[in-house]
Amino acid sequence: MTTSAQRDGFTSTLGVLAATLGSAVGLGNIWKFPALTGANGGAGFLLVYLFATLLVGLPVMIAEITLGRRARANPIAALKGMAPGRPWWLVGVSGMVAAFMIMAFYSEVVAWVFAYVWKSLEGSALSSDAAVTEGAFAALVASPWQSLIWQWVVLLLIGGILLRGVARGIEAVTKRLMPLLFLLLAALCVFSLTLDGAREGLAFLFSPDFSRVNAGVVLTAVGLAFFKMSIGMGTMMTYGSYFRADQNIPQTAARVMCADLAVSLLAGIAIFPAVFTFGFEPTAGPSLVFITLPAVFAQLPFGQGLMFVFFVLTSIAAIGAMLSLLEVPVLVLHERLGMKRSNAIAVCVLIVGVLGAGCALSMNLLADWRVQGRNLFDLMDFLSSNVLLPLGGILIALFTGWVWGRDAFSRAVSNEGSLDNRRLAGGLVLILRYVSPLLIFIVMLNGLGFI
Ligand code: PFF
Repeated sequence: MTTSAQRDGFTSTLGVLAATLGSAVGLGNIWKFPALTGANGGAGFLLVYLFATLLVGLPVMIAEITLGRRARANPIAALKGMAPGRPWWLVGVSGMVAAFMIMAFYSEVVAWVFAYVWKSLEGSALSSDAAVTEGAFAALVASPWQSLIWQWVVLLLIGGILLRGVARGIEAVTKRLMPLLFLLLAALCVFSLTLDGAREGLAFLFSPDFSRVNAGVVLTAVGLAFFKMSIGMGTMMTYGSYFRADQNIPQTAARVMCADLAVSLLAGIAIFPAVFTFGFEPTAGPSLVFITLPAVFAQLPFGQGLMFVFFVLTSIAAIGAMLSLLEVPVLVLHERLGMKRSNAIAVCVLIVGVLGAGCALSMNLLADWRVQGRNLFDLMDFLSSNVLLPLGGILIALFTGWVWGRDAFSRAVSNEGSLDNRRLAGGLVLILRYVSPLLIFIVMLNGLGFI
């Protein structure tokens, strides 16, 4: 087993920020967040989302990172070590299962994004007629080989980066990619704001409509905060185990939360003015990214170039998220089963390859294979987002608040007393004990259709 002295880890504050932000920023910012904001009351939803991130997202994120750093180990070993003889380590196991399930469908969507980087270079899939762009996307999804090949391109790239390790792989890559992402996004925003539909697009995103904020919308916001901030499954615990001892965890987590929110808002500012300029419906999910946007780009000056920039940007966002997802089981296999890191990566890539192939094929050859009306792709999405992540979130909050306890948590979060944040730690413990678990519990019941 690796000792902490030899353990790989992040080397600089900037590197920590880039890697953690890289995990939070992902496909969720581009297609989920802006569309959900627009559809659920604009600024009203933003306010609710802000509360959800402050009351649930941020506390659980801080708890996860702090647990990981204290244990300096993978989530299973961390929880085993901190509560010996008790079953809390199963939270780590469920996180690992969730990581595989998310990667199975997420890697497929990333595969489509990569395919569209290629298509934008070729100039194919670009047409002002939405029926044509729909046909191009349907053709990609319907072709088993294309989906599988692009999925393997994604997996080999992510596996290759992880092979270089934490500092030279994850940190080095995200440190370069994150600034580029902001730059490209800012450029697209400036361009989009010059279009005729700018006012309408901004109004869709920001004009407050509090009448639409009901219980369902609150629950949507909490669920989104979970997925967005990569919490509830040990990802942040894994990254926390690579944090330096002098890193200010609450400050880092708050910065990540704000920067992630900024990316989501900028994505909305880049997308919706353009969508409204050409009279399209502001849809959500794959149809927004792969059908509506190519039709929008086709009508813009430099459309092909803009489409290329957009899909490169989306790929960058997805790479950081995929790195963090794959790192969770890789670290477990490496540390707990004593596998060489390279072998652990190979095994995990293979597993995701097989599960991912199932998801890719569930769109074509295996389309008839369904559980309660859901194909494999939707099933993985549903089970991970609606069951495993919220369950993990509740348990991590309860573990930190009640089992690990106030004093130990305060010591760890204050870097053994060198940071003066005793009151903040006390407030966090209260939230983790009572507020977050209760809120998440309600979200979960909603996700499973009980309320
Ligand atoms: N936060 C990522 C996104 O918004 O796309 C998704 C994600 C990444 C979820 C990593 C969970 C995770 F562990």
